[in-house]
Amino acid sequence: MLAQLNELHAQSIERLNQSTATAELEAWYKETLGRKGSIYLLTRQVGGLSPEERPAFGKQINIVKNELQAAYDSRLAELKGSELQAQMKSSAIDVTLPGRPQPKGGLHIISQTMRDIYRIFGDMGFQIFRSPEVETDAYNFELLNFPPHHPAREMQDTFYTSDEDVILRTHTSPGQIRAMRAYYPEPVRVILPGMVYRNEQVNARSHLQFTQVEGLAVGEDISMADLKGTLTDFARRMFGAGRETRFRASYFPFTEPSAEMDVTCFVCEAKGCQLCKYTGWLEILGCGMVHPMVLRNGGYDPEKYTGFAFGLGPERITMLKYGITDIRHFWENDLRFLQQF
Ligand code: PHE
Repeated sequence: MLAQLNELHAQSIERLNQSTATAELEAWYKETLGRKGSIYLLTRQVGGLSPEERPAFGKQINIVKNELQAAYDSRLAELKGSELQAQMKSSAIDVTLPGRPQPKGGLHIISQTMRDIYRIFGDMGFQIFRSPEVETDAYNFELLNFPPHHPAREMQDTFYTSDEDVILRTHTSPGQIRAMRAYYPEPVRVILPGMVYRNEQVNARSHLQFTQVEGLAVGEDISMADLKGTLTDFARRMFGAGRETRFRASYFPFTEPSAEMDVTCFVCEAKGCQLCKYTGWLEILGCGMVHPMVLRNGGYDPEKYTGFAFGLGPERITMLKYGITDIRHFWENDLRFLQQF
């Protein structure tokens, strides 16, 4: 019996080592260590042994069982490994190829320009003040000193809603009134960024929606010199130290006097080119001293307080700075355009 066991042991090990597939191993297991396998069949014969022989045989059978189990486990691991290797080699996936890079997101160029603007005015003590994109006619026009039916309203083609008084703001200036009413009687020093809407023909130069950054400073003894100093400093920091500025008289109903600020042309360095229409200057923003009516509408007594305001267009600034010739690029979500910044 013991000899039979030892022979079974040797044979089983040999068969195990000859097997070349996990399926073969499974069959081996069933026949050898399984519930009706050869080892089991041998155990059943213990009854036929003399009582003196039984313990030694029982012990040996356990040793053989454990050894076979261990041999099976290691052979199984070996075969699984080589089968995986073979499978990877023969299938279409080439595991040696470099992985696909995860595309990295980035800020839209307009958001970058906005943040540059926030940083510069933030350094000068301006806080960001948010005001709504959906406005009333009163905030967008009347409180800003546009009388009803005044032709100045035609400077800005408006999107109206079914409610006669509710419109999409055509500029960020209505935020001036909201900021003043929120701050009164404290001094105001805010910038108001956001989207504005105009019912215009879309083309390379104009769009239905674009961003603006409004600025407002209200307090005692604020003069035109403060306006010029603040905006000139902004232009230097935004466009470079060598950039010169000039102010031209202009008109807005909510500022008096009103002006527009130009900077020397980025392309030709003021020598004259197509972009600056051979003037050497590019218009950057509108500005002026807050109109007394507007101060009053914001709650400030114009006898005691003065202020300045300005409004600039980040799309326009970005176009000039990078030589972008079509405003529609900002909305097309074409990665070939966006990834350049
Ligand atoms: N709101 C004006 C516009 O959209 C710009 C502006 C703002 C001018 C503040 C003067 C002062 O054109």
